[in-house]
Amino acid sequence: MPVKSSNIVPKNGNSRYIVRCMTHEDLPQLMEIRRELKVHDVESCIDSWLTVDPQGINVVESEAGELVGACCFIRNSDDLYFGGLYCVRPKYQGTGLGIHVWNACMDHVGPRNAALNAVPGKTELYRDKSGFPIVETEFKCQKNFTMESVDPDNLSNIIPQGVIIESVQDYHLPAMFDYDFSVVGYDRQFALALNCQEENSRTFVAMKNGDCVGFGTIKLTCLGAGRVGPLYADDPAVAEALLKRLIMSMPHVTGFVMNTVSNNVSARKLLKKLGVPLKEELTRMYRKEKLSADTKKIFALYELNLAPF
Ligand SMILES: CC(C)(COP(=O)(O)OP(=O)(O)OC[C@H]1O[C@@H](n2cnc3c(N)ncnc32)[C@H](O)[C@@H]1OP(=O)(O)O)[C@@H](O)C(=O)NCCC(=O)NCCS
Repeated sequence: MPVKSSNIVPKNGNSRYIVRCMTHEDLPQLMEIRRELKVHDVESCIDSWLTVDPQGINVVESEAGELVGACCFIRNSDDLYFGGLYCVRPKYQGTGLGIHVWNACMDHVGPRNAALNAVPGKTELYRDKSGFPIVETEFKCQKNFTMESVDPDNLSNIIPQGVIIESVQDYHLPAMFDYDFSVVGYDRQFALALNCQEENSRTFVAMKNGDCVGFGTIKLTCLGAGRVGPLYADDPAVAEALLKRLIMSMPHVTGFVMNTVSNNVSARKLLKKLGVPLKEELTRMYRKEKLSADTKKIFALYELNLAPF
């Protein structure tokens, strides 16, 4: 893997660090850091997006081979990169390592548009120092989770006539790709095909007369919870029935995670029925221009760190 920066010496330290692209073999160490930070990430999902963009994630590594930090800007389309996973292990924070891995990611983005979700307290940094001056005003990205189990009996499975919900099969994929394009506005066929094959995950599609009218995935997080995302549907009743099937399909998990957009009121109602609290609101920020998507159809975001919707 090409080294992006070498001989980095942190403040008050004497070891040296390098920044380089992450490989699939680095995933277990990255997940250790994410667990340490208590973030509900999904290893297989990061793996899939690393396959989509093999240069998209950078890591900071010590001379001894220990990963201590990471950041990504994943190519989602020709002119759209999405940033996240920005972290340094707590004991090394503030020593000057983070900025190197960030800069390596920005080199990967080059002059193109990019977006990220800022945690509370970091908005000013990204807006004033990192080149993300455009702040989304239509919605916030909401982190919702509970470590309790949720009860699918609290959700209805009454769906409009003619709609059927099925476990995803290869023959559903073309219709699912078209539907995804209609919601987010760009082609994500490769990422979605990988999404449907990830281990410890289940995907269901809602079909009507041969067209996809919604789909959803649930995956196991590195902290042992079930995380729903993406969950898209034309109709809130279809989203609810998909959500019920997803929760029922993964019963042996500790907790539930679903990240939403604040302007989808129906998604909030579903979380209320399940008793899942809102934990944190993130601010969407852009480098060059805002992105738009049909957020009425977005009941759960795909991934807060890797893709915009
Ligand atoms: C945010 C985080 C990755 C920064 O890494 P770090 O190693 O602590 O940061 P550094 O020590 O490299 O920062 C050195 C300097 O660069 C600045 N800097 C860091 N990241 C920057 C960025 N993306 N853009 C511009 N400046 C940045 C810092 O503000 C600091 O400036 P100062 O010297 O004027 O105070 C780290 O603190 C962390 O893991 N925090 C917890 C997770 C988190 O909040 N991640 C962000 C999610 S949106």
